[in-house]
Amino acid sequence: MNFAINAPLSPKLTPNMELAHRNTFGLDAYAELAYEISSAEQIPELIKIIQEQKMPWRVLGGGSNVILPAVLPGATLLMNIPGKELIKIDLTHTYLSVGAGVNWHEFVTWSLDNRFPGLENLALIPGTVGAAPIQNIGAYGVELADYIDSIDAYDSQDHTFVTLTKEGCCFAYRDSYFKQHPGRFIVTKVVFKVPNHWTPHLHYADLAKQFLNAESAPTAQQIFNTVCAIRTQKLPNPKVIGNAGSFFQNPIIPAEQYEALIKKFPQLISYPDALGTRKVAAGWLIDQCGFKGQRHGPVGVYENQALVLVNHGGGTAKDILDLASNIQEKVHQTFGIQLEIEPNIL
Ligand code: EPU
Repeated sequence: MNFAINAPLSPKLTPNMELAHRNTFGLDAYAELAYEISSAEQIPELIKIIQEQKMPWRVLGGGSNVILPAVLPGATLLMNIPGKELIKIDLTHTYLSVGAGVNWHEFVTWSLDNRFPGLENLALIPGTVGAAPIQNIGAYGVELADYIDSIDAYDSQDHTFVTLTKEGCCFAYRDSYFKQHPGRFIVTKVVFKVPNHWTPHLHYADLAKQFLNAESAPTAQQIFNTVCAIRTQKLPNPKVIGNAGSFFQNPIIPAEQYEALIKKFPQLISYPDALGTRKVAAGWLIDQCGFKGQRHGPVGVYENQALVLVNHGGGTAKDILDLASNIQEKVHQTFGIQLEIEPNIL
């Protein structure tokens, strides 16, 4: 069967595309049919054909938050929609429109170079702009949701383009409306809203301590540089050692469970949250169970951050998931807490 689309706007099709360099875990995988999406207009026709053929499909951005099987059957949509532009400045905010295929860190760098500070705490997070809202990326006390105006997406169920406001996106810790409806929306464009009056966000302890002895308040560029330095030191570079950043979410537990745990484990690291619940540092739990730096065949736990699983080379999705379930079991036995896997298992 011929799956190429003969329309003027057709996306580029590559059969049997190698994906080892398109997923940061560096897993050997290939996509049966890879379609490179370079404009939103290409999507409706492609989805129609995919659905008519009853093919499985998924979208791949930077491949930084996925665990891939050896073969991705059906259609894999490689998100490549470009574009970064200033759309308006009102009394309080500046609005920036960015294509879903733009690399996240490239966008953050561009925003600072063009004097639109605000996103510096989110520097160096791997992946694309279109993938960022799905898991509501966050780091050093800031979440993507804090800077969202609206998101454009294609709804593959209702066959229409939609624009969701920030409220419509139902953002929560590493969660969104898109994540709650897997396989339905394809994010095409994100409109960011950064305050015209910039204030630094330095309440995250790791970041704050870097500026303790500074004589003057840091600039956005200095915060950007510091976040890049901390991340480079703590997190493995996926070009050198395969990984998908934090492998587990930081679990949120009820106040009563926290009270009981802190009596038993006074060193427990956790943060209060607005709902009276506690967010516990999963990295600390895993570290206490002795996994940090351990190797399990071709995969393992990163030596500087126990929340990050790594592929030393030649690992498969099964190797990673087996190690993950060992960790989940031990953490559950020790602390009575169930860890949730963060990356998407395709
Ligand atoms: N900790 C340990 N041992 C470890 C790792 C951490 O004791 O092996 C302790 C640390 O000492 C610290 C606490 O646990 O007191 C938290 O660690 P860290 O500051 O490194 O942050 P995290 O909670 O492990 C989260 C995000 C990261 C983000 C950092 C910085 C999640 C799941 N992860 O990690 O996001 O960069 O905070 O804000 O929320 C990602 O999602 O891929 C990611 C890297």
